[in-house]
Amino acid sequence: MEQYVIKGGNPLYGEVEIGGAKNAALPILAAATMANETVTIDNLPNVRDINVLLQAIEQIGAKVERVNEHKVKINGAYIRDLTVDNEFIRKIRASYYLIGALLGKYRETAVALPGGCDIGSRPIDLHKKGFCAMGADVDISHGLFKVKAYRLIGTHIYLDKVSVGATINIMMAAALAEGKTVIENAAKEPHVVDVANFLNSMGANIRGAGTDVIRIVGVQKLHKTEYSIIPDQIEAGTFMFAAAAAGGDVLVTNVIPKHLEATTAKLLEAGCEVEEFDDAVRVISNGKLRRTQVTTLPYPGFPTDMQPQMAVLLGIAEGTSTVTESIFENRFRYVDELTRMGANIKVESNIAIINGVPRYTGARVNAPDLRAGAALVIAGLAAEGVTVIDDIHYILRGYENLDGKLRELGANIELVTSEKELQKFILKVS
Ligand code: UD1
Repeated sequence: MEQYVIKGGNPLYGEVEIGGAKNAALPILAAATMANETVTIDNLPNVRDINVLLQAIEQIGAKVERVNEHKVKINGAYIRDLTVDNEFIRKIRASYYLIGALLGKYRETAVALPGGCDIGSRPIDLHKKGFCAMGADVDISHGLFKVKAYRLIGTHIYLDKVSVGATINIMMAAALAEGKTVIENAAKEPHVVDVANFLNSMGANIRGAGTDVIRIVGVQKLHKTEYSIIPDQIEAGTFMFAAAAAGGDVLVTNVIPKHLEATTAKLLEAGCEVEEFDDAVRVISNGKLRRTQVTTLPYPGFPTDMQPQMAVLLGIAEGTSTVTESIFENRFRYVDELTRMGANIKVESNIAIINGVPRYTGARVNAPDLRAGAALVIAGLAAEGVTVIDDIHYILRGYENLDGKLRELGANIELVTSEKELQKFILKVS
């Protein structure tokens, strides 16, 4: 039993350093298996999803050496098993990145169908469409995504919907395919660019990442490299919103401010002060927030992974705000939990209509998924009294030392593992 317990009401002050981007690190680890030489990856976030993927990579035979908690060396020369399946890999989303990587390198693989957070139906038809267009045969049966290609040939692929996963997966397979692949309506997220940069540092020929047309000329093989992953824009945004909701003055360091533009814009609209530096942003908030509107969109739009955190902020802003979720259909599962904390939110279709209340009140709540869980932590920090969050294993999938970093900023939060520890905390703060 792991829980976060929070005594709200402390404003946040100080500096917090952001780690590497989970959603860049996952495909980069998968892509690292494509070389038969040692690839060194730094600025790796030490979170559960990363460790599950590394374990799966090791299980198929690749050599994995954990240099320290943020650095790993991978050598794909020793891969002997092209079936990726274990009880843990089935639960994460990013298992699908091994499909593109191993299909590109070995022309065949069978990978357990991805799990991940329950935020919508999350189909993988566009990944399949891309692989099939390149000449692969796909068979989805017995819980496995099996794919095989006699020849993998570059082609034009139009993605009917902007998809981060499909863009990256097709890009990886195409890096070692024959000839030129063009991905149209590609995702432009910073992590798509980071994966392209990583593959190029291994000798791939990828142009246009960061625009909606990516051109990949296949090469014969990929070689060793040393690479440092970009900072996590969602972790950064989460701390920025925590400072905004709890009030205070926080410098969020080791970030790329350009990647945070949509997040920053919404904080300004909500009445916070935001200062940008070369590799840091400072958020100053007196805790008095204003209503605004937000719609999630593919990058450079407002990220769906910041939507629950935004709703938590607007839940205590003056007036009526709306949050429109346009990427995933089931991303308001935190609303019932937030209602227990006093929020006044009504969901109609994909729009949450939020009537701001003066404050949240501490309650016992469940984290329904990773980002919604982080949003509930923010609510707890801003709330009056004690909040206990269950099911925090979701949060631990994507945030490294969230409680420790918040404590450094003055928050009263602890990760407890037993009823005894929980009661001890409650006694201490009451
Ligand atoms: C990734 C991120 C997730 C983030 C999301 C959007 C990882 C591990 N996860 O998820 O945190 O919320 O990007 O930024 O990096 N779609 C299809 N068919 C497909 C693929 C996607 O219809 O084959 C749809 C999805 O249902 C969704 C939209 O496209 O409506 C975007 O999904 P996508 O960008 O692929 O998200 P993920 O890669 O699953």
